[in-house]
Amino acid sequence: MEDLRESTIHVAYIISAVLFIIGLKRLSAPATARQGNQLAIAAMVIAFLVTLIDREIVTYWAIIIGTLIGGGIGLYLARAVQMTAMPQLVALFNGMGGGTAAVIAVGEFIKFARDGEVAVGEALAVSFGVTVGCIAFTGSLVAGGKLHELLPSGAIRSPIQMPVSILLLLGVVATWVVLVGFDGGNTTVWAMFAIALILGVALVIPIGGGDMPVVVALLNSMTGLAAAAAGFVLDNQILVIAGALVGASGMLLTILMSRAMNRPLSNVFFGAFGAAGASGATADAEAKPIRETTPDDAAVMLGYAQSVIIVPGYGLAVAQAQHAIRELADELDKRNVTVRYAIHPVAGRMPGHMNVLLAEANVPYDQLFEMEQINSEFQRTDVVLVVGANDVVNPAARSDTSSPIYGMPILNADQAQSIIVMKRSMKPGFAGIENELFHLDKTRMLFGDAKDTLAEVIGSVKAV
Ligand code: TAP
Repeated sequence: MEDLRESTIHVAYIISAVLFIIGLKRLSAPATARQGNQLAIAAMVIAFLVTLIDREIVTYWAIIIGTLIGGGIGLYLARAVQMTAMPQLVALFNGMGGGTAAVIAVGEFIKFARDGEVAVGEALAVSFGVTVGCIAFTGSLVAGGKLHELLPSGAIRSPIQMPVSILLLLGVVATWVVLVGFDGGNTTVWAMFAIALILGVALVIPIGGGDMPVVVALLNSMTGLAAAAAGFVLDNQILVIAGALVGASGMLLTILMSRAMNRPLSNVFFGAFGAAGASGATADAEAKPIRETTPDDAAVMLGYAQSVIIVPGYGLAVAQAQHAIRELADELDKRNVTVRYAIHPVAGRMPGHMNVLLAEANVPYDQLFEMEQINSEFQRTDVVLVVGANDVVNPAARSDTSSPIYGMPILNADQAQSIIVMKRSMKPGFAGIENELFHLDKTRMLFGDAKDTLAEVIGSVKAV
């Protein structure tokens, strides 16, 4: 009977692991992402239920009450949060994961120590889980605070910061040595916990708010690794597998984001982005001419075009204009205009930001094109409609070696026959730099909030 129970648990864990892996794979394309999420949820439910059968850690009442409180808060936050505040919510949830892994590691260590000698492997796994989990916890809280502007969002730098971080790091190493090499007891593990918490704050405080999405992706990877370590400590295979998957995918995401922004990770952690170049370049922008247009004229350009490419950016999220853009695309489609969306990998403020927004408005997936797929199409396109995007269409990335975004791959919007740019002012985007695209002869600026302006353009297209 006991054997049957054991094998059922193992088989269930394997099914859960396979579902996690297939779910992750499906998340890589917009058309299958929803299904990927459902598979991962199913995997999590199986893992959760089987763990309940497998272990008798606390009473079922305690688990039910904890689940209701935690699940209730999570559900409320996920439903109530504004789309633009999603990155900080992700940071908060991530921090909770890291903190939980660290607390589990401490709890298990106390149990091991009470029951006898702690093996070297166990002490190592505990040290790793506590250190990485605590850094992910406080680091994510600081990242979330900066993104939500509860903390100053700029890079906070001081001369003592590097020595303090190094001292804290040495402190953590010392607690590792004592815990693993000299049978350090509960005091050592608590000291490690406290120092790592402070280290998480010290490491993230100096980084500018704009870089937080990359930092959150890295901290997310750390949370996964801390969970995997907790899995070793608890001897729970599914936690090891799921943690390793989160660790690996978070690391890949971090690398891909840095690459798409053309910034080495070291630059994210030790360099200030947007600070240099912002002043001179923007002051210059005022002097250069621009050509303004009206919703009526824009509607004529769009309505009589054969092909239109829409480039959404962060401003689409701010204006919550995803439904309006879909409505405009539908109107153009009725007039046999070919409409496609060009999605830049770091458009917006979080990975997949544009995909999520457009999926919410049920934009057909076959109209969404990634940068590599669509970049050669711009030169054959009549009108490019840039909606709240800026840096991702800045030609300086191609030609201006002194630009902070030089080398970042961009969408070739400047190669289209004509360009309409929707934004509220001549203010720069995330990188804080001027955009030559706005000053080209073939570019028309359509100023105003994207949602309001789109409503006017849609009305005019219907009348054209
Ligand atoms: P940005 O370059 O930040 O430009 C967004 C533009 O939207 C702004 O110029 C702004 O101009 C306009 N805007 C804001 N609110 C608007 C509204 N209500 N209606 C119309 N326009 C509005 O955005 P992007 O082109 O998407 O580029 C993303 C940037 O963020 C890149 O530099 C990228 O490296 C960085 N970044 C991205 C990520 C991820 S993972 N996506 C992570 C970190 C950093 P006005 O103020 O004049 O309206």
